[in-house]
Amino acid sequence: SHSPQITGTLVFTVFTAVLGSFQFGYDIGVINAPQQIIITHYRHVLDVPLADRKALSSDAMATTEEMPRTPNLMNSTPTPLPEEEPEEELVEESGLITMLWSLSVSSFAIGGMIASFFGGWLGDQLGRIKAMLIANILSLAGALLMGFSKMGPSHILIISGRAVSGLYCGLISGLVPMYIGEIAPTTLRGAIGALHQLAIVTGILISQIVGLDFILGNRELWHILLGLSAVPAVLQSLLLFFCPESPRYLFIKLDEENKAKKSLKRLRGGVDVTKDIAEMRKERSEASSEQKVSIIQLFTNSSYRQPILVSLMLHMAQQFSGINGIFYYSTSIFQTAGLSQPVYATIGVGAINTVFTALSVFLVEKAGRRSLFLIGMSGMFVCAIFMSVGLVLLDKFAWMSYVSMVAIFLFVSFFEIGPGPIPWFMVAEFFSQGPRPAALAMAAFSNWTCNFIVALCFPYIAELCGPFVFFLFAGVLLAFTLFTYFKVPETKGKSFEEIAAEFQKRGGSARPRKAATEMKFLGAAETA
Ligand code: GLC
Repeated sequence: SHSPQITGTLVFTVFTAVLGSFQFGYDIGVINAPQQIIITHYRHVLDVPLADRKALSSDAMATTEEMPRTPNLMNSTPTPLPEEEPEEELVEESGLITMLWSLSVSSFAIGGMIASFFGGWLGDQLGRIKAMLIANILSLAGALLMGFSKMGPSHILIISGRAVSGLYCGLISGLVPMYIGEIAPTTLRGAIGALHQLAIVTGILISQIVGLDFILGNRELWHILLGLSAVPAVLQSLLLFFCPESPRYLFIKLDEENKAKKSLKRLRGGVDVTKDIAEMRKERSEASSEQKVSIIQLFTNSSYRQPILVSLMLHMAQQFSGINGIFYYSTSIFQTAGLSQPVYATIGVGAINTVFTALSVFLVEKAGRRSLFLIGMSGMFVCAIFMSVGLVLLDKFAWMSYVSMVAIFLFVSFFEIGPGPIPWFMVAEFFSQGPRPAALAMAAFSNWTCNFIVALCFPYIAELCGPFVFFLFAGVLLAFTLFTYFKVPETKGKSFEEIAAEFQKRGGSARPRKAATEMKFLGAAETA
């Protein structure tokens, strides 16, 4: 029969794998809510006064003076901060503190950028399970650096801890989609692949909730908040021991047919697996008949040039839409918009984000990728304008804060309808087995590079442009919408040949590529 086999082992295994995606999301969202508290701590540890205030109030100085002056960076028993130190008040930060904070946010993406190249490679060297297991060492190390950051030079520990966590996330942004794509029954591959993004957004949401001031987002516990990703890391490491290795890796890569069968039987619940094995055998012969393509060849070979450029652009569009400006900085944006409880608005964003990601899992198989991407991008364009207008007119009309808030909610919803999940799907669809791994590595690298640029520059741009910052993103969104309209072909239900022909029609030089008459997601194909 054709009915997909959802076994307990499959559910357990996919759950275990996407605990990695969950950590990725947690790390994206976690520095949002406690920004002011950690900045205050940096200022305190480094003894940097606010730019627009002479120094801390006199009684604060009195307490600070009891501390030894020299080991300022090793402030293991921080002096209690004066009660009137405003956490929520908007103040102009000194250049040093702004820089340290942007680095604390963006070093994560530097790690991701570097590691995104190596996820697939590590999975091939060690096997998917061992690779994910080893990767968790990085996650744990990062969590420990941050978890103990209060006891040392916090800024250094947090910046390096975020970078190490970023390495983990870069690795799993290749490994998890690859592994779950490989173990999923063919008929469920799309839906299971999308669980990666769903776990990411769940991680974002949970980090926002535990970041509430009465849970962990306060002066006493913020370091625990940052170190908490150790919990899913340990959990994932333990559970991985019970997960079957990818049958495709065992069979196609290692030529271990019996082991592959055993693994398949566990995943499919002991039913006859000859069909799966036959499918993998076909994959193996296709893969070996097709040459492996290097990253350089992606750009020099005229049949790949157009699709790889479109792939890079799709990921740039995803990141330069400004989405992570929201996920890293929404609490301070909402604060600027004059909301009295900005953290709750941030959680609202996380909730909406999760709901719409779940929705997109269904939409993406019904509507076309190209149309959803276009709808998402143009919707975000309109929202970005409203966000800016709301912030600009805030002085005149207090109710404008609601305009900005609603615009941000819709902005995020439009993102998850298309630009969030689709770039990963589409890049896999543009390329056959030979060039696919190189193309996916480049796509992930493009994604993380742009993520880094936004994370690092957002506070500066926001400072420079003030409430006009989202006009800038609106301009970018418009440009990418037009690009998509003219250059991105529809891929849903199309063969590689048809997709190549589409690229040709849209002004590329893509020659129809050989052979594959039916679109197939092989091996490293699917990412959410
Ligand atoms: C996608 C993006 C990631 C972003 C997330 C938000 O996974 O790659 O950068 O934070 O969506 O939901």
